[in-house]
Amino acid sequence: MTDLATGPVFTDDYWRDPFAVLAEVREQAPVREVELPDGGSTWLVTRYADARSVMADPRFVKDFRNTLPPEQREHAPGIPSPGGEMMLLNDPPVHTRLRKLVVKAFTVRRVAALRPRVEAMAAALLSALPADATVDMVAGYAVPLPTAVICELLGVPVDDRDAFGAWSTTLIDETPEPDKMQANASLAAYLSELVERKRAEPDEALISALIEVSEADERLSTEEIVAMAMLLLIAGHETTATLITTSVEAMLRDPGLRDRLAAADPDELRAAIEEFLRWGAPIAQAPVRFAAEDVDFDGVVVPRGAMLMVSLAAANHDPARFERPDDLEPGRDTTGHLAFGHGLHFCLGASLARLEAEVALRTLLDRFPAFAPGVTLPVERRRSVLVNAWQHLPVVLDP
Ligand code: HEM
Repeated sequence: MTDLATGPVFTDDYWRDPFAVLAEVREQAPVREVELPDGGSTWLVTRYADARSVMADPRFVKDFRNTLPPEQREHAPGIPSPGGEMMLLNDPPVHTRLRKLVVKAFTVRRVAALRPRVEAMAAALLSALPADATVDMVAGYAVPLPTAVICELLGVPVDDRDAFGAWSTTLIDETPEPDKMQANASLAAYLSELVERKRAEPDEALISALIEVSEADERLSTEEIVAMAMLLLIAGHETTATLITTSVEAMLRDPGLRDRLAAADPDELRAAIEEFLRWGAPIAQAPVRFAAEDVDFDGVVVPRGAMLMVSLAAANHDPARFERPDDLEPGRDTTGHLAFGHGLHFCLGASLARLEAEVALRTLLDRFPAFAPGVTLPVERRRSVLVNAWQHLPVVLDP
């Protein structure tokens, strides 16, 4: 392995075994600058304790303008719409206001009420796949399920779902940048039109609830609702697909685990999903912050204005926090895992993601308890720094 104190991190070694590479980085240089595959660079934070504190410490901000002296802030350009209105990219007080409003609409009850629909959608997807031939679980199950769930959650009419699915796939697939920008613009235009339709004809779904919510006379504007819907799609789609794929991949490698989970009660399955979240870390390195002042990490100073990326994958495998961190041990105490982040921006959709994973795995295990690899594993990882995802996952459902 190359020198991981200063050398490149995101090499072929990384995509073969990200956790081994990250363990070396954490050991040799737990806070260091790294080159990103797209040519940019960032500081990478790999220890559990540092990861947690970066996500909770107000000296680390989301909006770059908040690292500037106050007199320069007003003139600095912000992120264009709809990104600029996304709460994920904002700090208090903008973030506080948006989050307060959205949690009024995105309630526990609303998420729980989706369960029968998620079950029906998971069953329909499996029924559409041939049971005795090799199928790709990524394209056939793990990706379409969360997309369908987001449509259901937002209240996207059935007739529009194919177009919606195509735009969102373009957004997450490795498509050329101009195609992504086009899909982004089409989605934003579609969503603003949908918000207007829901203003005229409200229904029970989330967009109507977002139109309704108010707090001390504060309401969300159409631009803010569009940005929120785009954020839910982007944040809730590939991440959940990755959690499902990681779990299925682990069971393909260990049929004993598959058999245990097929017989597991709901609590055991939910505990296993927490361990898939800890161990698989669907978001490998995404939480980004900027240092609003110089910050010293045991003698390594991250300068004001610098970008930091938190490695949730490294943090969840830190032996200082979890014993035998690289071992998948469903049922272990996973308290404090960071797969959903930490602090003000803690994942808004965590309960929905858990519900989707539970239904996806339960439906698969009930229907096809002997599912098996379609080709020799291991299959290739996606070359993404952000998600720990598999490109394809070939499976025979009923061998
Ligand atoms: C934020 C992980 C599913 C909506 C986050 C963050 C993480 C995360 C790590 C924090 C980012 C940061 O601090 O910069 C995940 C994982 C998921 C998942 C691993 C699936 C396994 C979902 C779903 C939704 C969702 C299903 C909604 C439909 C959001 C939103 C935020 C967020 C809106 C921003 C919260 C804020 O800025 O206050 N997620 N997420 N996520 N997630 Fe998730």
